[in-house]
Amino acid sequence: MPATAEPCVFVIFGGTGDLATRKLLPALYELHAQGVTASGCIVLGVARDPGMDDVRFRALAREALGDGHDPDAVARWAESSLHYQPVGEAKREDYESLCARIEALEREHELPGNRVFYLALPPRAFDDAVRCLGAVGLTRSAGWTRVVVEKPFGRDLASARALNDLLHEHFRERQIYRIDHYLGKETVQNLLVFRFANAMFETLWNREHIESVEITVAESLGVEERAGYYDKAGALRDMVQSHLTQLLALVAMEVPVAFEADAIRAEKIKALRSIAPIRPTDVVFGQYGRGTIDGTPVPGYREEDDVPAGSATETFVAIRLEIENWRWQGVPFFLRTGKRMARRLTEIEVKFRRAPVWMFRTVCEDVFRSNSLLLTLQPDEGFSLFFDVKRPGEPFHIKRLPLHFSYAGAFGKLPEAYRTLIHDVLTGNQTLFVHADETEAAWALYTPLLERRGAEPLHEYAAGTWGPEEADHFTGETPRAAT
Ligand code: BG6
Repeated sequence: MPATAEPCVFVIFGGTGDLATRKLLPALYELHAQGVTASGCIVLGVARDPGMDDVRFRALAREALGDGHDPDAVARWAESSLHYQPVGEAKREDYESLCARIEALEREHELPGNRVFYLALPPRAFDDAVRCLGAVGLTRSAGWTRVVVEKPFGRDLASARALNDLLHEHFRERQIYRIDHYLGKETVQNLLVFRFANAMFETLWNREHIESVEITVAESLGVEERAGYYDKAGALRDMVQSHLTQLLALVAMEVPVAFEADAIRAEKIKALRSIAPIRPTDVVFGQYGRGTIDGTPVPGYREEDDVPAGSATETFVAIRLEIENWRWQGVPFFLRTGKRMARRLTEIEVKFRRAPVWMFRTVCEDVFRSNSLLLTLQPDEGFSLFFDVKRPGEPFHIKRLPLHFSYAGAFGKLPEAYRTLIHDVLTGNQTLFVHADETEAAWALYTPLLERRGAEPLHEYAAGTWGPEEADHFTGETPRAAT
C-alpha cells in the first residue's frame, strides 16, 4: 500500500497547460482513487486565463482524464476537489488574491495549512513566480510548504546557480522538489535495487570487470509542437544534462549507506563530481534531416513548424566521458540521445571484460565476445544478460543468447512516473528528486560544451536512423537492442 498523504492544498501553476492536463491531473486523480489523498487534497489550478473558472477547469480535467476512468467517479472528484484561480505573470495583486483564495479553501475544507506549489511553468516564468510567492508570504504557513520545480532547471551553470539561490531565499532545500521525471520511472528506480540488492552484480560493477557502459535514450518523435522551447535548448540541455546524467549517476554511484534521500543524493553528487572535463573530440552533435519513420516520410528538423530555417540546434548528442575514481578509472561511459531516431528506446548496456584467453580458437571460428548486461528502461522494460552457449551438435559452434527478465511478464502495467513522483511530494519523500548540488554538478560538466557548441560540426542524420555515422564510429556500435 502506498503511504497516505497529509491533507493539503495542491496548487498547480500552469494549471491549464499541457503538463497539467496530460500528467498532473490524471496522477492526482489516481492518487485520490487509490485513497492516498483520502484525508483531503484540494487542487487549485492557477493560470493566466481570466476566462477560466472552477466549472470550466473541472470540465478540462474530466476531458483530460479521458476514457480510461469511471466518468462518475471522476466527476465527483472534480466537483469536490478542483478549483481555479486566474493569476497574471508577476502581478502582486493577483498573488494576494491567490493567498486569500488558498486561505479560504483551507478554512472551508478544514485543512491545516499544508501547501504544495507545483511550478509547471515555462522556465522564463519561474523567477517571477517564486519571487511573488515570497512577496505575499505564501512561502510560510501554519503547516508545511513544498515547491515542485519542473525541468529544465536553468540553461547553464550560472542560471542554475541563480535559480538555486532564489529558491533558497524563500525555501529550505528540504522543501524543494526538483523534478526529473526519469527518476519516477520504475525501471530507473530498479537500477538501485538491481545494483544493491543483488550482490553478484555489485561485485562485478567496477573497472576490473567492466569494459564500457553505454546509455542510450532514443526517441522516434521529432520536435512536435515544442520548437519554441526546443530550438533554444537542444538535446544537450533538454536530455543529457537531466535524464541521461541521472541514469549515469545511478549506474556509477557508490553504495549509499541507506535507502534514504540524503544518502542516495550524496553518492550521486560524488559520482557527478568525479567526471573528468569532457574533451571536444569526445562529443558528436547531430541534427535530423528528412527521413522515414515506420514507413512514413517525415520532414527534417529545419522544416518543422516554428524552427528557424538555418537553425544550428542539435537534436542528437553522443558523448564519451570518464569517471575519475577508484571504481571507474579508465572505463569509458558513452551517452547517446536523439530525436527522430529509428525507434523509441532507452537502454543501458554494460559490457563486461572478455575472458583473458579464447581457448575455443582451435575448434571454431566464432569470435571472442564479452558478456553484456542490457537494462531496457523503455519500452520493453526488463533486462537481458547475454552469454555464450554451445549450439547442440556438430560442428562445434558457440551461440550468444540472453537470459531475459520482462517487467510486463512479471508485473503487468507499470505505474506512470508522475503518479510516483507526486505521491512522494505529498508524503515528503525527496529520494527521487534532484538536489541543488546535483543540478550544479551536471551544469558544470556541460556548460563548457554549450559554450563551444557553435564551433563544433553539426552532422546531419536521416530521420529514422540511429544518428550520424560519426557517432557510430565513436561509440562503437548502434544500440544493442537495435541489432
Ligand atoms: C522531456 C524532454 O523531459 O523528456 C522531451 O523535454 C522528451 O524532449 C521527453 O521527449 C522524453 O520523456 P520520455 O518519458 O518519453 O522518455
